[in-house]
Amino acid sequence: MKYKRILLKLSGESLMGDKAFGIDNNRLSQYANQIKEIYEQGVEIAIVIGGGNIFRGVQAEEGGMDRTHGDYMGMLATMINAMALQAALESKGVQSRLQSAIEMKEIAEPYVRRRAVRHLEKGRVVVFGAGTGNPYFTTDSAASLRAIEINAEVILKGTRVDGIYTEDPEKNPDATKYDVISFDDVYGKGLKVMDMTAFTLCKENDLPIVVFDMDTPGNLVKVLSGEQVGTIVRN
Ligand code: GTP
Repeated sequence: MKYKRILLKLSGESLMGDKAFGIDNNRLSQYANQIKEIYEQGVEIAIVIGGGNIFRGVQAEEGGMDRTHGDYMGMLATMINAMALQAALESKGVQSRLQSAIEMKEIAEPYVRRRAVRHLEKGRVVVFGAGTGNPYFTTDSAASLRAIEINAEVILKGTRVDGIYTEDPEKNPDATKYDVISFDDVYGKGLKVMDMTAFTLCKENDLPIVVFDMDTPGNLVKVLSGEQVGTIVRN
């Protein structure tokens, strides 16, 4: 496998599948199957999952709610997804541990970096819930931060698109996909990969990001096998 330790970032919205809200069991199971494929190859896997299928902090602000309040609700939403993912993984025989950035010890271990690393070394998938535990940070930032903390070699950002394009392919059919692009070029061309906080953390810590389509079964193992799937962003 191309990488020994990875941080997989999954989108909460993708978990909806074709539903308008919540968790689509088929999609959840499909994700768990893909994770199992690389788990069986001995890859050390940490996962951060978003919560947009349940609640988004920014949406709360539109309704007049305090931004920080909304962000905490969003963090709880990620815990619901993280718990669902852990259950799906374990039903397939994948050993996992769930750690939360906000203490809720009846449901999850508290986030302890050294313990998370031990779990990975013992071959357990570690799911990190509740984002960074702080308002004003996205789950992409949580993914970048955790990846750096646990010395992951790469962030694999699973999305609905199959990589980064020169332009929005839905607006311009002539847009072409990058196989590799530098952080500086992403910035210079105004392309969007992650929010700036997350993006800068990756750039400054020399952590590459692979953007790929997680909704196509088999893609995750292809990325790990070194096949040209998605776009890699690096220094
Ligand atoms: P090792 O000590 O490396 O064997 O790891 P372990 O995770 O198997 O040991 P531990 O006895 O710490 O955990 C056993 C189970 O309890 C695991 O499923 C943990 O995720 C869970 N667990 C441990 N600490 C907590 C906690 O503070 N809260 C909750 N809810 N679960 C916990």
